[in-house]
Amino acid sequence: MFEQDIYVNRRNNLRQMISSGVILFLGHNESPTNYAGNTYRFRQDSNFLYFFGLNLPQLAGVIDIEDGTDCLYGNDTDIEDIIWNGDLPSMQEQASQAGINSVSPFRDLRIKLLSAIRKGRKIHFLPPYRGESKIVLSELLGVRISDLENYVSKKLIKSVVKLRSEKEPCEIAEIEKACDTGYEMHTLAMRMCKPGIYEYQITGAIEGVATGANGMPSFPIIQSQNSEILHNHNHNNILQAGKLMVTDAGAETYMGYASDFTRTIPVDGKFTKKQLDIYNIVLAANNHAQKIAKPDVFYYDVHTAAAKIITEGLKDIGLMKGNVDEAVINGAHALFFPHGLGHMMGLDVHDMEDLGENYVGYDDEIQRSTQFGTAYLRLGRRLKTNFVLTVEPGIYFIPALIAKWDSERINSSFIDFGKVREYLDFGGIRLEDNIVITNDGCRMLGKRRIPVTKEEVEEEMSK
Ligand code: GLY
Ligand code: MN
Ligand code: MN
Repeated sequence: MFEQDIYVNRRNNLRQMISSGVILFLGHNESPTNYAGNTYRFRQDSNFLYFFGLNLPQLAGVIDIEDGTDCLYGNDTDIEDIIWNGDLPSMQEQASQAGINSVSPFRDLRIKLLSAIRKGRKIHFLPPYRGESKIVLSELLGVRISDLENYVSKKLIKSVVKLRSEKEPCEIAEIEKACDTGYEMHTLAMRMCKPGIYEYQITGAIEGVATGANGMPSFPIIQSQNSEILHNHNHNNILQAGKLMVTDAGAETYMGYASDFTRTIPVDGKFTKKQLDIYNIVLAANNHAQKIAKPDVFYYDVHTAAAKIITEGLKDIGLMKGNVDEAVINGAHALFFPHGLGHMMGLDVHDMEDLGENYVGYDDEIQRSTQFGTAYLRLGRRLKTNFVLTVEPGIYFIPALIAKWDSERINSSFIDFGKVREYLDFGGIRLEDNIVITNDGCRMLGKRRIPVTKEEVEEEMSK
């Protein structure tokens, strides 16, 4: 945990923003895999972690604005818990770690909330996303599960997004730790990659790097020689010479902070000319995005600039044609780059996605595009100092998408489909880095950039 002042200050800031009512943060419970006692690895809710820091199940935190108290609800361990799971700090000790003076047994939470509801006071809570939490909330508030969404507090969502978006120095330090573990994961994948081994051997090994750093992967690892599939979690193939292997993986630290990197490498350790031509376009788009990302710039504009670099590059090798600006306005690049340039990152790899992507990535100034491809851009709003985000352009040759656009003649004035057909077995390339916005630009996170140039990648793979 961070120092208790961090949590006290965060809660005080929130109090001022919400100004009246009772704010409820429900922590997570253990979640069973195949029977009650066999659970998934415990992962605390990120909003609870942010305001209370405690990484244990069956807790709730309540901030009562009018009476000025913060209270932690939960139960002390009993003798059965101690025998099977060991003793834990008392509730009082846990509360004091988070700078809270008041503790109550979990069963008192319902009494507290009912009394507030009877007085007509507003209970502010965030959108629940786990089945277990929905059940608990429904019982606590006396609201049907299907109606919960109607009672979610938009004011709380907006306030939490505001606070969590600008990372504190202690958070950036944690994210850097996650990035350093990400470096070890990706360089190990590069050294292991060769024809004849199973994808899952690499997945398992790099997952072990994250776990061995006292954390875990920040999301299920995407790693495949079918590199044109954006989020592929199947790792059953034997790596074949001539293919490109994508690894999209990051670590989560013990405190819950994430990294999220992608590298795409040639299975046999050397890029072909055809692969390198596409690779260098993606790298140029990534580098350019990092050059122009700074406070006050809309990330939508950075995305568009990256799309133009991609279009320009594809035009140079004959896959696209026509005016580059017009091609991008018409969304023609999305045949090859059908996703967004990046997203916020922090306590969640897609930070605060549970609160609603449009609250996190968009605001009154800019709304999400409805155009195919750009509609997947998770972050479009103006950047601010201390935002942490990903930069992840890509170029993919997705046979089903190419066939659809070709048969429907979509954007055919900007695309040479005859030439594109020569790339149907190419796969795809994505290169993803993590940055923090500084006062006048941005800085890449982590001690070193994961090998990214042709020379760096081939050298790492030869080790
Ligand atoms: N790891 C999924 C993503 O890059 O957004
Ligand atoms: Mn990623
Ligand atoms: Mn990402």
